[in-house]
Amino acid sequence: DIPNVFDGSVDLGIIGGTGLYKLECLEAIAILPAMATPWGTTSSPITISKVVGASDEHFHVAFISRHGLHHQYSPSTVPFRANMAALKHLQCKAVLSFSAVGSLQQHIKPRDFVLPQQIIDRTKGIRESSYLNDVGLVGHVGFGEPFSKAFAQYINQFQDVLKHSDPEDSCALHLNNETTVVCMEGPQFSTRAESKMYRMLGGDVINMSVLPEAKLARECELPYQMVCMSTDYDAWRDEAEPVTVETVMGNLHNNSSNANALASTIITHMANDMPEFMITGDGLKGSLKFSISTKPS
Ligand code: ADE
Repeated sequence: DIPNVFDGSVDLGIIGGTGLYKLECLEAIAILPAMATPWGTTSSPITISKVVGASDEHFHVAFISRHGLHHQYSPSTVPFRANMAALKHLQCKAVLSFSAVGSLQQHIKPRDFVLPQQIIDRTKGIRESSYLNDVGLVGHVGFGEPFSKAFAQYINQFQDVLKHSDPEDSCALHLNNETTVVCMEGPQFSTRAESKMYRMLGGDVINMSVLPEAKLARECELPYQMVCMSTDYDAWRDEAEPVTVETVMGNLHNNSSNANALASTIITHMANDMPEFMITGDGLKGSLKFSISTKPS
């Protein structure tokens, strides 16, 4: 008997990836049916939650499951524009996104976490990746820094929650200025040759979901950071078997408590003391109006 309406405003939007459907620190206060937007319907119902133990009015999180509750949307068919528009409509001040990734670097071990700061686009141009063209506008938002540095720094301060007394259970959080995620179209995994090429290009991790999500967040003027959970070594290591879904799902499953601990720590700290980048908009507020090149008619 959780309500299906919510008339408050949301502080943080979360887009959960494969294997991350629920966060332990959150208590649902409303479950909105999948939201119809001018860009289609969101991939899942939207759960509005508060932090367990906090008051109902205090800090609200909206959670969307990127691939749908039954994992029915492939990376190429996720309604990315609807998902981001819904989070914007709910007045989110930042978007935290999660994704399983393959590791293209030996030092990024399966189950480690990565906060990428750069993206290489290897999608095939078949995903709708802008809001502007549809409404008769040509616009070019800045995308040189596709993630929110302030958000990444904020997350990074909590890396100790991934350390445990048993080193076997511990995992690292990787963040530096050049950390790069390659976004491929899929749905098939890469060949060994492609995987090696992505390493030569400077890729650190690879997934199928960061685009167009990051671009749309930028058009919505929303600070955005993806937390990548490494699940495999893709296909570049000649001595090892190439990645399979079984490996990805196994490592995601083993790591769900770490993912939950990290996300819960981030959220509870935000709820206690809203970070500056969420209050000010991280320099993105109003940026869109300077990106439109179409003359007013
Ligand atoms: N997601 C998880 N592992 C992946 C890989 N190796 N390639 C692309 N996407 C992935």
